[in-house]
Amino acid sequence: MNQDPSPAQGMPRFARLPMSENRTEAYRLIRDAGPVFKGRRGYVLSSSDYVEYALKHPELFSSKRAFDLVGSPLPMVPIAFDPPEHTRYRRILQPFVGPRKTARWQPRVRSLVGTLMDSFVQRGHCDLVAELAVPLPAEVFLTLFGLPMEDRDRLIGWKEGLLGSPMLSGGQPTEDMIRVGAELFAYLVDHIEKRRRHLDGAEDLLGRLLADTSDERLSDDELLGLSFLFVLAGLDTVTSALSTAFAALAAQPRLRRQIATDPSVIPSAVEELLRMDGPVVFLPRVASQDIELGGHTIPAGSEVQVAIAVANRDPAEHVDPDEIDLRRQERHYAFGGGPHRCLGSHLARMEMREVLAEWHRRIPDYELAPGFTPRVEWPTGLVGLDTLPLVFPPGAATAA
Ligand code: HEM
Repeated sequence: MNQDPSPAQGMPRFARLPMSENRTEAYRLIRDAGPVFKGRRGYVLSSSDYVEYALKHPELFSSKRAFDLVGSPLPMVPIAFDPPEHTRYRRILQPFVGPRKTARWQPRVRSLVGTLMDSFVQRGHCDLVAELAVPLPAEVFLTLFGLPMEDRDRLIGWKEGLLGSPMLSGGQPTEDMIRVGAELFAYLVDHIEKRRRHLDGAEDLLGRLLADTSDERLSDDELLGLSFLFVLAGLDTVTSALSTAFAALAAQPRLRRQIATDPSVIPSAVEELLRMDGPVVFLPRVASQDIELGGHTIPAGSEVQVAIAVANRDPAEHVDPDEIDLRRQERHYAFGGGPHRCLGSHLARMEMREVLAEWHRRIPDYELAPGFTPRVEWPTGLVGLDTLPLVFPPGAATAA
């Protein structure tokens, strides 16, 4: 048994991978380094099999120990916990974010999308990121938490200030992040206190959690950590996913025409666009004990990067993995897997489906603004575009 997987030969540093413009090549380089290898930031698992194994064995690959390295002042509920504590949190939260609950928000989300689109359809061009992909998830969060819509731009400001935050990806926060984190924290504390004083029977997530009187109910600290995590995990992920999805559709007219002429393809299109270019590349874990995998031993205490975006293109799992096929229905790890599988996946999917449906109904023909080449910032926590200028015939259909 080889005690230590050799550092990958010929693998560039992560920061130097061609992630900005050519993720197909970047993911190939990682895959070619091996299904399990020792990178500069710990061990990397890149094959579909090992990614699945790690995600489904939290007793070996600990999230809690990965988040302990960050040292968050708040309990990051539920991501920073392992079973059995984690199981309790999921049991409490699951009923509020399952498919049936999420479906009840769908008309509201459709209307938010329509209103945002009203402001640019007549113009014939827009920045999809600034005008739709950034404000929509912030508005959805405010709706879900029963917060006033006027707070949208403040919330977006805090979210921007926390981008690349180690709360999700490890490392040390900057002074600015600490300041912004404290502002968001104060805002959430204030709001939770107000809502606790005036329980109004509201149906939003926070109202329901505050009204919970069972033995299992969340403490105020846990509620704060959860709210904080929802801002970190639920805003920029959807923004990034929409930005790369629209970049792909705008660059490949065949795909956008397929959606415009046959909207029934939208549910599988959302999955395929996430499989192909999801925003999350690595999930952090720490080995709780020596782990034998692929003929190697990962020593206890090692940091492990679970490369979900690379596994999503594993040729052992997908035919032509680097091709987008909007009708493909194959499992992917863009929302993770195992007990930590994304808690907001139903909501995220619904937001993306509503945007694709409303956009293609009103703007079936569009393309990248002349001369624009989509480039993602790298290295960052998430794969997404800062801007996506699109052009289309002005005065497309009005809101439904
Ligand atoms: C396209 C959008 C999204 C993507 C690609 C995404 C991706 C992920 C991934 C990969 C994980 C697993 C993390 C891990 O195993 O360490 C995760 C967890 C999580 N996500 Fe999402 N997410 C998205 C949207 C959302 C939204 C909209 C929300 C909230 C409303 C949300 C809330 C969460 C929470 C709370 C967790 C932690 C779950 C747990 O630890 O049990 N996410 N997400």
